Amino acid sequence: MRSPLDGYVRLAARYGDTIRIPYSPQSSFYLFSRPEHAEHVLAANQDNYVKAVTYRPLRALIGDGLLTSEGERWRRHRRLVQPVFSRRHVTAFGPVMTGSARRLAARWEGLANGTVINVVGQMSALTLDIVGVALFGSDLTGDADEVSRAIDAGQRVAVMASFLPLPWGPRSTKALRAVARRVGRTPEGIEGPVGRIVSARRAAGRGATRGSASEASAAGASAAGASAAGASAAGASAAGASAAGRGLAGAQNGDGQDPAAAETAGTTGDLLDVLMAAGGPEGSPLTDAEIGDEVATFMVAGHETTANSLSWTLALLSAYPWARDQLEAELDTVLGDRDPEPGDADRLPWTRAVVSEVMRLYPPAWTIERNALTDDEVAGTAVPAGSLVAVPPYLVHRHPDFWPDPAGFDPRRFLADGGGHGAGEPRHRYAYIPFGGGRRACVGSSFAELETVLVLATLARRYRLELTVRGIPAPAANITLRPGRALPMRLLHRG
Ligand code: HEM
Repeated sequence: MRSPLDGYVRLAARYGDTIRIPYSPQSSFYLFSRPEHAEHVLAANQDNYVKAVTYRPLRALIGDGLLTSEGERWRRHRRLVQPVFSRRHVTAFGPVMTGSARRLAARWEGLANGTVINVVGQMSALTLDIVGVALFGSDLTGDADEVSRAIDAGQRVAVMASFLPLPWGPRSTKALRAVARRVGRTPEGIEGPVGRIVSARRAAGRGATRGSASEASAAGASAAGASAAGASAAGASAAGASAAGRGLAGAQNGDGQDPAAAETAGTTGDLLDVLMAAGGPEGSPLTDAEIGDEVATFMVAGHETTANSLSWTLALLSAYPWARDQLEAELDTVLGDRDPEPGDADRLPWTRAVVSEVMRLYPPAWTIERNALTDDEVAGTAVPAGSLVAVPPYLVHRHPDFWPDPAGFDPRRFLADGGGHGAGEPRHRYAYIPFGGGRRACVGSSFAELETVLVLATLARRYRLELTVRGIPAPAANITLRPGRALPMRLLHRG
């Protein structure tokens, strides 16, 4: 077995869509691949399921943020950050997304036709740049290499560690972080940039700052967790109240405004403002450690997934030139010789369909796992308390009962009028779950959808990327699903 993904695929091919594997005298692992299973576990009976033990190494790496926490802590933090990711507010981040993509496109301008670039690396740096500016008002471009290596090493170590029967606590957390730093050759891991982001904002007193994480470090600011949590709580609370207003006002900025001003507008009322403003009658302020865990969580969850989705998209467009021709035709017709603006996303149905189909075949979050709290029955299968349950989007998205030609790449499935290609026909709501489902569904899904469409449109309008070898890259599955560690592609200037 080459990877957990490989194992799941083989098991499902051999034993079907409902599989039980006893892994200890008390517990079994259930591998489910039907939409009904996903709906039951993620939504219909979600109260009976908690994030699986397999998430513990991830928790050790990024802390107890929204992705890995449970109970009251999760509920409070989700309520707090949800408004930042509402569709309306996300539109205000559009200019940050297009601004970063345009800067990358401008850098590519200087590369000779046919230059081979590392697409995974470039997309990872781009999406980290976007998350840094949009959510934290921080320029992370100087940290991109370090953060990428830290996340890559962290994922590999976390997946290996998930097979070890470790008692997870502060000591194993420390050990895992130390191993990840050594493997990734990153002396400070992701904790370094995270700490600098938090202390830069504390040092700025209140409101959004566009200072870089490295600048903050040079100013001698202390790392997350080191500064006194309560010190700036009162000021932060006032800052947050006004920040929320500024952020929503930003949503009205949209098309056609000065990009630099719009980009700045997108950074006000950001995630960091909201986290730092928590408190008042609703409860105590968040500690710097809690804020640091959320920054790490959003930094990792918010850039790695979209980077993978964009990398897979560029690879598949090269492998399926007919789909790329259609994409280029749509961009030429709708945009002509201008770059996309946030409002264009709705006018690019083929671009959106391509991204959706890519995430069907290669969902960046390829598996979702839970532990059952009490005895349950999942679509007729008894699942005892304590069982480990997986409902991998990768398998659900390729189930032949729900997807004609499941392994085929065909964006027409996602067009309203794609007649005969699985589009337009009612589909099980949980047959397509790249962002999960139920109350633990991805809080950043609107952000991710807007970002992938705007970035793809900006880049594909000017460039074509060609795979350097024939065939679709083999997926490398750790916590997320990547088209390899680098994905070399040849950059061709269009027109
Ligand atoms: C293509 C891009 C993305 C994909 C495929 C994706 C997928 C997912 C999935 C499947 C989950 C649920 C995991 C589970 O149920 O165990 C999730 C949760 C989450 N995602 Fe995303 N995500 C993407 C982009 C983003 C972005 C851009 C952000 C933030 C800016 C983000 C932040 C989060 C957070 C914080 C959670 C935890 C939510 C909670 O439990 O309340 N994700 N994501």
